[in-house]
Amino acid sequence: MQNINTIAVIGAGLMGAGIAQVFASQGKLVRVYDPVESSLKSLVDRLRQNLDLVKEPHDCLENLIVSNSLAETVDEADIVFEAAPEQLEVKRAIFRELLPLVKENAILASNTSVIPIKEIGQDLDHKGRLVGTHWWNPAYLIPLVEVVQSETTSDWVVDQTIALLEQVGKKPVHVKKDVAGFVGNRLQHALWREAIALINDGVCDAETVDVVVKNSFGLRLPVLGPIENSDLVGLDLTLDIHNVILKGINRDETPSPLLQEKVASGELGMKTGRGFMSWSEQDAKQVRSDLVDYLLKVNQTQKS
Ligand SMILES: NC(=O)c1ccc[n+]([C@@H]2O[C@H](COP(=O)([O-])OP(=O)(O)OC[C@H]3O[C@@H](n4cnc5c(N)ncnc54)[C@H](O)[C@@H]3O)[C@@H](O)[C@H]2O)c1
Repeated sequence: MQNINTIAVIGAGLMGAGIAQVFASQGKLVRVYDPVESSLKSLVDRLRQNLDLVKEPHDCLENLIVSNSLAETVDEADIVFEAAPEQLEVKRAIFRELLPLVKENAILASNTSVIPIKEIGQDLDHKGRLVGTHWWNPAYLIPLVEVVQSETTSDWVVDQTIALLEQVGKKPVHVKKDVAGFVGNRLQHALWREAIALINDGVCDAETVDVVVKNSFGLRLPVLGPIENSDLVGLDLTLDIHNVILKGINRDETPSPLLQEKVASGELGMKTGRGFMSWSEQDAKQVRSDLVDYLLKVNQTQKS
């Protein structure tokens, strides 16, 4: 692996901050760019809060340089992580602008959640250096990073990216085909589509969907993935079940009408007080803190 010591992060929002934290706390020099002053200004405070949560000292913030100059941020970088808004045109424009500014062999990584990497790199002369690195929120607590190889991404770039992520304690996986949503979000949203369809079709209410998941297979998931589970119950049983169930499972190619109606009427979830369920500020706060507490416990168990 080549020496990767200088990291650039484009976008100082939720994900950019988490990615910057991971590298800074592992002793890498991290430069962060954001064109929005409030994002840039609040970054160090947000990182201090994250470091307090994981009970890590603040010294690593010395490895961080924030800037509103893209050129200054990327010109020495060995790898650039783009974590700007999930809009194809925004991402394309960022890579178009930074290509003439980066070193010849700098790796260019996009943190897109679902957009195929080839669509971002279309018409860009990136010479095989553009790769997907799909981190999960919070990036400093969730180990997985999906490393997505498009038809044009070189094997060298994939290998270097995986080696770097392993070096800083992440769990990278190689996604060999550049399909929308990669692996994690395809699985996650197959489940969400069915969950919303069950509510839409009156099979059960919204609360019941989550009670079922959290009190059944959700409990097993940390130790038993779906493929291990099908091997455990037997592929013969899996086949018998699929022969019955698959024809009834939702396969709509467009978002559920129920989801579309809710968004149109401003029912956006916790941030508006109502989504599929009703949320008081207190309840929403509780869910968020329960999640962080849980992830912290898992993180500490994995470290010990
Ligand atoms: N939020 C998640 O859970 C999550 C998880 C995985 C991946 N992602 C992906 O990561 C990316 C960033 O998501 P986020 O949740 O951090 O969003 P965010 O809104 O918190 O942060 C985006 C940041 O980009 C900045 N920005 C706006 N225009 C820019 C530009 N032209 N150049 C550079 N920066 C710009 C904004 O000021 C903001 O600070 C998206 O592609 C998203 O889909 C998000």
